[in-house]
Amino acid sequence: MKLQITKEISLRPFRVSDRDNIVAGINDWEVARWLASVPYPYRVDHANAYLARPEHGECALAVADAGAVLALAVCVDDRLVGGLSLVPASRRPGLREFGFWLSRNAWGKGIMPGAVRAVIDEILDRAPRTGFVASANHDNLRSQRLIRSLGFVADGRDKIFSNPLQRRVSVKCFRLEQD
Ligand SMILES: CC(C)(COP(=O)(O)OP(=O)(O)OC[C@H]1O[C@@H](n2cnc3c(N)ncnc32)[C@H](O)[C@@H]1OP(=O)(O)O)[C@@H](O)C(=O)NCCC(=O)NCCS
Repeated sequence: MKLQITKEISLRPFRVSDRDNIVAGINDWEVARWLASVPYPYRVDHANAYLARPEHGECALAVADAGAVLALAVCVDDRLVGGLSLVPASRRPGLREFGFWLSRNAWGKGIMPGAVRAVIDEILDRAPRTGFVASANHDNLRSQRLIRSLGFVADGRDKIFSNPLQRRVSVKCFRLEQD
């Protein structure tokens, strides 16, 4: 499975050979601090454990299955620069929740909006009734702006445990406004 977004940018399943690029991207406090579930420092063994998860072998099936985890590598010229995932939304049963990150040197280039949009379009093509949510730490203004620019609207607040921050944080929740 591969989603080609522009000539350079694509989404594809993660590969074991992405390991060093995952570590380089996430073992950066300016990235990790906003990701609730990652350990920090983020080491090679963390990436190995992540790459061993079953979802990496099941991308094609997970596209249309709201109960599955879909994990895709965000690539420039097939080289991983970030990750995008969809998990079953715990706060909104039946909906799918986005998570995403980019290596800092890939920020500010419009890569993630195109990637998220492509995933939404692909899923709606295969499973038109799918609903999407996202959330971001209350002070992650960059992510909130990106989420809103994709047509998500405010859907309350929640508190979650942040692994890198080692405390509960307040998050702003969003759901995609759909016809
Ligand atoms: C979130 C992330 C993927 C966004 O990618 P990006 O390439 O940085 O996004 P952009 O540069 O397009 O910025 C997104 C928007 O935020 C705006 N923005 C940038 N810096 C900002 C800041 N400090 N405060 C507020 N808005 C900001 C941009 O102008 C843009 O809005 P616009 O499209 O209306 O101009 C990336 O920053 C990242 O990986 N961050 C760390 C991990 C993370 O936060 N993941 C999301 C968890 S919810």
